[in-house]
Amino acid sequence: MEYALITGATGVLGTAFCKELASLGCNLFITGRDINKLKDLKTSLVAAYPGVNCSFFAADLTRGEDRKNLFAAAEGYSFNMLINVAGADIQKPFEEYDEQKLTFQTRINFEAAVSMCNFAVKHRASNLKIINICSVCGLQPMPYFALYSACKGALIDFSIALGEETKGKCVTVTAVIPGSIYTRADVVEYINSLGFWARKSAKTPEYVATKSLKAAKKGKRKIVVGGLNKLICALSKTVPQGIKLRYIARSRARTQKDAF
Ligand SMILES: NC(=O)c1ccc[n+]([C@@H]2O[C@H](COP(=O)([O-])OP(=O)(O)OC[C@H]3O[C@@H](n4cnc5c(N)ncnc54)[C@H](OP(=O)(O)O)[C@@H]3O)[C@@H](O)[C@H]2O)c1
Repeated sequence: MEYALITGATGVLGTAFCKELASLGCNLFITGRDINKLKDLKTSLVAAYPGVNCSFFAADLTRGEDRKNLFAAAEGYSFNMLINVAGADIQKPFEEYDEQKLTFQTRINFEAAVSMCNFAVKHRASNLKIINICSVCGLQPMPYFALYSACKGALIDFSIALGEETKGKCVTVTAVIPGSIYTRADVVEYINSLGFWARKSAKTPEYVATKSLKAAKKGKRKIVVGGLNKLICALSKTVPQGIKLRYIARSRARTQKDAF
């Protein structure tokens, strides 16, 4: 029996992926830090889609020991899909970071995703589709969001390189590059506080999940999600780096996010 492995399944975007995959009849192996949230998610998925098998394992993916335990629990499974959704969007001046915060953000946004890819490639079914959830923030260095944008940028590059390495081996890797997504309440509030274009380009989690799965099915290397986001990304390439950095610094310095 084949399974889709989903990290960050208990988050807003992760849950949208779970629902979409379950509605397609895929078996799920879901993970997040909170065992009670995982149990609740499994209960609701199995109630809505009785034919679907759902296994779960709670793990803090920033911890090597937890990942080891997760891999041991998932050892006998065969995976046809990995979706790395888990991530942390801490945004604040870099000098306000402490060691714990910076290792947490780096590990969950990059190291954990890479580690999950390694596990899934070694435990793949006859075909494996990997989706790594990156961000448009990874396409451009972002002052006051520097670590997040650097990690997501690294994840984009890693995904593309891994996809080339695994070409011809029935493994595809898709870097999904969304703009803003209406997820947690604080994120929705932030999007609504931005200007017209930011609100216009924001997407629902369901939209992002559907587009990501379609792109993975076609074996695409990377997709920017949404027509307006594609246009903004294309136009921003024509703007000199210095101007972009000053604009981003001015707008991002006004807000902070320090979740988790
Ligand atoms: N929202 C946006 O505007 C936006 C835009 C572009 C990209 N993204 C990316 O989309 C992804 C999902 O975002 P979201 O807004 O849906 O976030 P979310 O609702 O906060 O979900 C984050 C998920 O990551 C999991 N997670 C966090 N730290 C973890 C850790 N140390 N170990 C294991 N799991 C951990 C959380 O699990 P717990 O249940 O344990 O907390 C949760 O399931 C992230 O990668 C984010 O960077 C978001």
